[in-house]
Amino acid sequence: MKAVKIGLCGLGTVGAGTFNLLSSNRNTINAHANRDIQITVVGARRDNPACALGDTAVERDVLAVVDSDVDIIVELIGGTTIAKELVLKAIAMGKHVVTANKALIAEHGNEIFAAASAQGVQVVYEAAVAGGIPIIKSLREGLAANRIEWLAGIINGTGNFILTEMRDKGRVFTDVLAEAQALGYAEADPTFDVEGIDAAHKLVILAALAFGMPLRFDAVYTEGIGNIEPADVTYAEELGYRIKHLGIARRREHGVELRVHPTLVPENRLIAQVDGVMNAVMVQGDAVGPTLYYGAGAGAGPTASAVVADIIDVARHIDATGDQRVAHLGVAESAIIDLPVLDISEVETACYLRASVLDKPGVLSSIAQIMSSHGISIEAIIQKQPEAGQDHVPLIMLTNLSSELNLRTAISEIEQLDTVAGALVSIRVEAL
Ligand code: HSE
Repeated sequence: MKAVKIGLCGLGTVGAGTFNLLSSNRNTINAHANRDIQITVVGARRDNPACALGDTAVERDVLAVVDSDVDIIVELIGGTTIAKELVLKAIAMGKHVVTANKALIAEHGNEIFAAASAQGVQVVYEAAVAGGIPIIKSLREGLAANRIEWLAGIINGTGNFILTEMRDKGRVFTDVLAEAQALGYAEADPTFDVEGIDAAHKLVILAALAFGMPLRFDAVYTEGIGNIEPADVTYAEELGYRIKHLGIARRREHGVELRVHPTLVPENRLIAQVDGVMNAVMVQGDAVGPTLYYGAGAGAGPTASAVVADIIDVARHIDATGDQRVAHLGVAESAIIDLPVLDISEVETACYLRASVLDKPGVLSSIAQIMSSHGISIEAIIQKQPEAGQDHVPLIMLTNLSSELNLRTAISEIEQLDTVAGALVSIRVEAL
C-alpha cells in the first residue's frame, strides 16, 4: 500500500500531541490504517519543546505546506483567519483535511463542506467537539439508524471546572478561571469559555449531525456562567440539583431548540456527576433510547487521540469515491433539511428563581399571584431567615414547566413589586 503523507499545520498543545502520538503509537496506527502514515512536513511559525521534530521538514509559512507533496492537511492552528485560508486552499488543491477547529467548522462549515464535496475530498473534525470523546463518529455512524430527539452536553471543560470548584470548595469565579488558564484548558480568549461561545460552536456541530441540518451558529441562544453566584450553587443543592453549563439541542414539532445556558440538573443524573474539566454528552435516539458519552474534552493526549483517529479514517478511505464515504454531516447533501431554529421565547422549561424580598406578610402571596396569573405553578419554595440587621431575605422558588415568554413576563412584574429588591436570578431546569 502507498504511504499516506501528512502536512501537520500548527504546533501548539494539540499539534505537538498529534506529532508525538503518531510517533509513539506508530505500529498500532499503521495497523488500523492498513498503510504507513508519515508526517512529511510540519507547518509552524516556531518549534515547540514538547516535541522533537528530528529530520521532519519544517515550513514556517503554513500556507506553503499545501504546495508540498502531501495527501492530508491536518489543521491545528485554530481561529478562523489563516486556518480558513489554509483549509480552503487545501480543498482547492484536492487535499483531504483533518481539523480540530470548532470555530472554523461552526462558523464556516457550510462553505467548507460545499467546497470539499465539489472537489471530492474529505474534511473531518472529530477533535472539534469534546476532545477525546468520539461523539462525531457516534452521531454520524454509531447512531445512524436513529431519529435523534435531543442531546445535551457539558462541552466546555473550563466552565465545568469553574462550576465544580465553586461548588466543592466555595471558590470564587475569577480565581478558578485563572487556574483553568494556567492548566491550559481555557481558550486563548477565555471569554469564549465563560460566555458559552466555545460551547455554542460545539453545539452547532452536534445539532447539524444529529438533525441533518446546516450549521447555524448565528441562531444559538447563548448565556454564560459569569452571573452564577455561590449562593445559587448552594440553594440548588438544597433542592436536589447541580448547576451545569449545558449545550442543548432538541427537536420540536416546528423546528429545533439550540441553546447554551447554566442549567439545574437533578443530582441523581449521571451527567450531574461529571465534574472538573471532564466533558459528557447525552444523546436520546428513538430506537436506542438515552446514551451517555464521557471523557476528557481537552488536552494534548485526548485531542490528539481524536485527530489521529480521523487521519486513520481518511487514510483508509483515501481511494474511495464520495458516496463510499460517510458524508460531512452524516447524510447526503440533498437530504440536509434547513430546519427552523426556534427563538428562546418559544422554549419551555422549569425554572429556578431567587428573589430578595422584604420579610413581611403578604409578600409571598403577591408573588404567587403573579405566577399564577401567567399560568406558572410553583413546585417548591425555600425562604431563608433574615441575617442580623437585614430586612430582606432570599426567597427561592422552583417552577413547573412553563413557556419562556410567560416566565420572563412574570419575572419582570415581580421585579416591579416594591417588596422585591433588585433583579431576580433565574436558571432553567432540565430533567434530562
Ligand atoms: N476551552 C475548551 C474547553 C477547550 O475548556 O473545553 C476544548 O475545546
